Amino acid sequence: MGNPQLVHFTGGETGPWRVLRMRAIAGPPLTDVAYVSTSETQGAWTLRGVVSHVRYVERAEGAALRERQEGLGRPAATRAALIPIKKADAWWDLAQDERRAIFEERSRHIASTLRFLPAIARRLHHARDLGEPFDFLTWFEFAPEHEALFDELLHMLRATEEWRYVTREIEIHLASADSGGAGIER
Ligand code: HEM
Repeated sequence: MGNPQLVHFTGGETGPWRVLRMRAIAGPPLTDVAYVSTSETQGAWTLRGVVSHVRYVERAEGAALRERQEGLGRPAATRAALIPIKKADAWWDLAQDERRAIFEERSRHIASTLRFLPAIARRLHHARDLGEPFDFLTWFEFAPEHEALFDELLHMLRATEEWRYVTREIEIHLASADSGGAGIER
């Protein structure tokens, strides 16, 4: 049994998630792959992260999130997105209260995204302390009819002050490869 909080995403030739498209939004790209797996370790690349405690969420925000959000693995959520993100040293040099001010008071990362729940399910993985190339591996699941909604969410966040600190970002769109016998890992 490994640490259940430790998650890896391998891009390669097999896996339960088929790559629909991938592109670098900022910084160098990742090698194009056909599938993403959280169980395989053989592939063109493997990114690791941990599910960790929240850094910015305040009590009332946490309650609002829990009230609206749904978990991963919903049968109708056959689309997913893996978006690895790295932030600038200037971000990490800020104090916690300065980061919170940018993240929420000025960028409204939580307040403005609540309306995308429960359509979009999400999980944040922290990678920076593992010495990984990205600081965060963000993961989202949604039904195909919410693809335009997800694009709207990306567009909105990328226009924020918070995103000025993003130095590397790769967008990987996925569809569950549910026709094979591998099943879908969660
Ligand atoms: C369904 C919409 C979304 C909701 C409700 C949401 C909510 C949150 C919350 C509550 C946090 C703070 C966690 C903490 O306190 O540590 C967070 C962090 C984060 N989110 Fe989102 N988010 C959404 C969409 C997105 C999208 C689409 C992206 C990427 C394109 C993204 C990227 C991030 C990143 C990188 C962090 C970590 C920020 C940091 O610690 O510096 N989020 N999100």
